[in-house]
Amino acid sequence: MGIEAGDEVLVAPYTFIATYNVVFLSNALPVFVDTDQETFTMNPDKIEERITERTKAILPVHILGLPADMDKINAIAKKHNLVVLEDACQAWLAEYNHKKCGTIGDLGCFSFQNSKHLPSGEGGAVIGNSDELLDKCHSFHNCGRPYGSVKRTSNYPMRGSNRRMQEFQAVILMSQMKRLQKDADTRLENALYLTSKIKDIPGIIPYKLTDGATRSAYHLYPFRYKKEFFNDIPRKKFLAALKAEGIPCAGGYGPQNKDGLIEEALTSRGYQRLFSKQRLKQYREENHLPNNDQLCQEAVWFFQNMLLGAKQDMDDIANAIMKVHDGKDKLVKS
Ligand SMILES: Cc1ncc(COP(=O)(O)O)c(C=O)c1O
Repeated sequence: MGIEAGDEVLVAPYTFIATYNVVFLSNALPVFVDTDQETFTMNPDKIEERITERTKAILPVHILGLPADMDKINAIAKKHNLVVLEDACQAWLAEYNHKKCGTIGDLGCFSFQNSKHLPSGEGGAVIGNSDELLDKCHSFHNCGRPYGSVKRTSNYPMRGSNRRMQEFQAVILMSQMKRLQKDADTRLENALYLTSKIKDIPGIIPYKLTDGATRSAYHLYPFRYKKEFFNDIPRKKFLAALKAEGIPCAGGYGPQNKDGLIEEALTSRGYQRLFSKQRLKQYREENHLPNNDQLCQEAVWFFQNMLLGAKQDMDDIANAIMKVHDGKDKLVKS
């Protein structure tokens, strides 16, 4: 997408580290935009305040399968002449305005890593609507060899790398096409049923779809846990109690914008050359995301395979949460 050393890319912080490691690998600066706690996705109202003269792209993430607010993100991108890369790695068949996630920005990227809905061991895919941009992606993944509209000015006209997939992987992927939609429908049905069962439990706030989102992929089923409704039992105890009831669950991502790789990059020789002292100081000062921090403390995830179960399994999950809520006064806090 033409991101160069010294450029800046606006990224969602509630995500897997790979989302912004690629920005660092391009020697650019990932600038985090705070999260909307209700939808778990990038808050579009917080984007413009983070744009600088070096900003080149926005990287929203359809995290856990929940679509980001693409209309607003695309409108901001257009206004400021930025490109949009959708991280749809967790969002196979999720939809925004009835369009598949990954097809709404300039490019969309997907993962075939083993935890994903369409796995092949490892690997991924890039899709988009611009033939020219996709030709560049093709060249890039094939060591920079010319492809389509990428002119053959030499044997290797572009900087690139070997990201080629194997035929074996393609066969594994093709064989799963038959079940992909069926599984997605099962997850959707179970997720909606589960929400109807747990939404009225005090202190349990299920995810909300952003305006315009028409379907989540349910790579994970997320909700927020408000400990004040559970006798102040910390989330870690709540998770342990659910697990004791036989319900697998996790607390999800930590505040990635505070992870060690950020300081490691900012203090590196390269970044000190690429960015002024003043910019790096401002970056550190602004790298505070209160909504994202709170979400990282309150989120609870159920895994996608649980949503492939029967209705009875959803009842079991809901009953377990209710049981923990009813027994909250008996749980030890620390
Ligand atoms: C949101 C997100 N982005 C990016 C990635 C990276 O994908 P991969 O591991 O295929 O490189 C993953 C998962 O691994 C992910 O969950």
